[in-house]
Amino acid sequence: MIWSLKLVSKNCSKMANNRLDIIIFGATGFTGKHVVKNAAHICKEQKIKFGIAGRRKEALDAVVKEFASDIEDVPIILADIKDEESLKKMTERARMLISCCGPFRFYGEPVIKACIATRTHYVDITGEEEFMEKMQLEYNEAAKEAGIYVVSACGFDCVPSDLGIIFTQQKFGGEVNDVEVYMSTWSTTTDNKRPYLNYGTWESAIYSLAHAHELRELHEKLYPTKLPEFTPKLKSRGLVHRSDVSEGWSVWFPSTDRSLALRTQRFLYDKYKERPAQIRVYATFKSFLVFLTLSIFGLIVLFMTRIACGRNLLLKYPSLFSFGFISHENPDPKIWESIHFSVICKARGWTEKLTESTDKHTNPPNKEVITKVTGNSPAYEGTSIIAILSAITILNESDKIPDNGGVLTPGAALGKTSLIEQMNKHNIKFEVISSTVK
Ligand SMILES: NC(=O)c1ccc[n+]([C@@H]2O[C@H](COP(=O)([O-])OP(=O)(O)OC[C@H]3O[C@@H](n4cnc5c(N)ncnc54)[C@H](OP(=O)(O)O)[C@@H]3O)[C@@H](O)[C@H]2O)c1
Repeated sequence: MIWSLKLVSKNCSKMANNRLDIIIFGATGFTGKHVVKNAAHICKEQKIKFGIAGRRKEALDAVVKEFASDIEDVPIILADIKDEESLKKMTERARMLISCCGPFRFYGEPVIKACIATRTHYVDITGEEEFMEKMQLEYNEAAKEAGIYVVSACGFDCVPSDLGIIFTQQKFGGEVNDVEVYMSTWSTTTDNKRPYLNYGTWESAIYSLAHAHELRELHEKLYPTKLPEFTPKLKSRGLVHRSDVSEGWSVWFPSTDRSLALRTQRFLYDKYKERPAQIRVYATFKSFLVFLTLSIFGLIVLFMTRIACGRNLLLKYPSLFSFGFISHENPDPKIWESIHFSVICKARGWTEKLTESTDKHTNPPNKEVITKVTGNSPAYEGTSIIAILSAITILNESDKIPDNGGVLTPGAALGKTSLIEQMNKHNIKFEVISSTVK
């Protein structure tokens, strides 16, 4: 077994010698172009060789001309999701593939299959929970055998929250019982120009909501055994509350952040027997009126996603159903550059760490640590920087990533690497706000 693993890794490194470091697939998309733009700076700085890929040659040429003209040679590779061979020919040319082709429920799986077949590491920028869990269920073992890492959600979904929680646990100094996460975004422009988000994000979200009811069954298949009970139980704060750490009205946030962070915590428990944090995720709105309007709008959209004609209407008239925040037109760069985000983690626990993670503390939690992750333009600039840094970190620090490969969450794969440090250098700032012992 060890002999065959060594042979696999020897073959991998032999193949890797002739390969590009990274290929960005979906480089002609709205987010893909941002990834290329930022790769042109970051990869040049770090002497990383990258190429770009997609299905339209002229559009790819235009992307190189616009965003990477000062780089000597950016190979262009043609590949179409519908053509399996073209995908393999693309993935065998790189050590790492960054996929920006979404919705991932439609376009993700064939790319992961090609990466496994050609032993190419993979990261993507999806926030689609069902896709991620299906991929873990179906391909974890195959990815391990191939000796490659498949890491989804390497964007604003879900690195700031997932790594934010890991950062909080690392800085806690003791043992964390629970973490309450408060996410908020705000704009600093007075310009009311819209849209804010690209249609690709909307389309992916609509299909995710439409299939949200399938998640429970998937969860049960992925985790047939339950975790032991950890106490005291972290209760939900109800529909809406005011928190002392996040100014405004905070509301239960049904995003992928919580489920992904729980998968990370579960992995760390299964692998290292680290005590998993209980997690709740809230979104904070400065004004009650905004909260109320978005909640009503959210409920209407949720209801509409459940029926085919409702979905069709949402996809056909995005502007109408999103107050103009999303349309078929691309957002104006000035608008999204003025958007900022913060992810605040409020952790409770004990100053003392017990020997076994399942040992029970006899006293109530006596320590609180608050941390914050902040940055700009979360959806596109932030996402593209996170995706590139995650990809480079996997290539450079595989010795700090668990196992020989597998389908992992960002926190599970990258929690012990220098990714947080790298993000701090690129203006995605992780900091401790306070630490209090009662
Ligand atoms: N994690 C986050 O926070 C975050 C942030 C932003 C976006 N996203 C996700 O990223 C995904 C892309 O969003 P976007 O707004 O960039 O969408 P987009 O502009 O529509 O880009 C989609 C990309 O997929 C490519 N594509 C579609 N069908 C293909 C096929 N058959 N073969 C090869 N390529 C194909 C498109 O190529 P063509 O140009 O040839 O059509 C394009 O490059 C979405 O799922 C979105 O939710 C996530």
